[in-house]
Amino acid sequence: MRRPYIAANWKMMKNLAETEEFINSFIPLVAGISDVDILIAPPFTSLSIASHLLLPTNIKLGAQNMHYEENGAYTGEISADMLLFAGCSTVIIGHSERRQYFNETDEIVNKKIKTAKKKGLEVILCVGESLEERESGRTFGVLDKQLAGSLKDISMDGVTVAYEPIWAIGTGRTATPEIANETHGYIREWLNKNKGNAGSVRIQYGGSVKPENISELMAQSEIDGALVGGASLKPESFANIIKGAKK
Ligand code: 13P
Repeated sequence: MRRPYIAANWKMMKNLAETEEFINSFIPLVAGISDVDILIAPPFTSLSIASHLLLPTNIKLGAQNMHYEENGAYTGEISADMLLFAGCSTVIIGHSERRQYFNETDEIVNKKIKTAKKKGLEVILCVGESLEERESGRTFGVLDKQLAGSLKDISMDGVTVAYEPIWAIGTGRTATPEIANETHGYIREWLNKNKGNAGSVRIQYGGSVKPENISELMAQSEIDGALVGGASLKPESFANIIKGAKK
């Protein structure tokens, strides 16, 4: 049985004061929930305050990105060690916005996952197709390529996969639970074939997840959680997603 896993990706939103305000309101809303893993991934500048505030809870802290080099002259970049010292347990890697706007390739994603795992960080690996790729029947081919490239020579312990169809991100257009489930099933089959028994790997769905649609998504056999953008920015909304996420 895979434990539900709900993660907030705040993207480039919330400064330090807003982070503090959110977490102080959010903690009491989810107090007592022990059967769902919860993670918050704020911007880098909010990691320290978030880590401090989340310390007495079992809510995990994640980063949205990191560099694959361990240290060095890489102006503006953040290393795995820096994330660990800031209190992160986890890092999101290969988000479609990183791939699209910052030219992250599967090869770069692969290097980042290797460094993250070597340092002891858990990983949420994002994959997903564009609208044009889905409409031209190339979804599974795109996923094959992303999974093979991103996970080359990597074992699945400590790795969660987030399936985020690009056409569903921030558009209000959620994949139907059936389409999401079919695609998750394909990803699990790929993992079983290429990485051994993937029965315990969690696969999150991401793309316009909200309190109103979480239950029907989670009712699907292959959906183990969600990676939430917009609807994770308000404490009540994110808490209601978590409450609706029980299997
Ligand atoms: P939205 O929930 O805003 O569609 O964003 C999804 C996402 O990209 C999470 O990483």
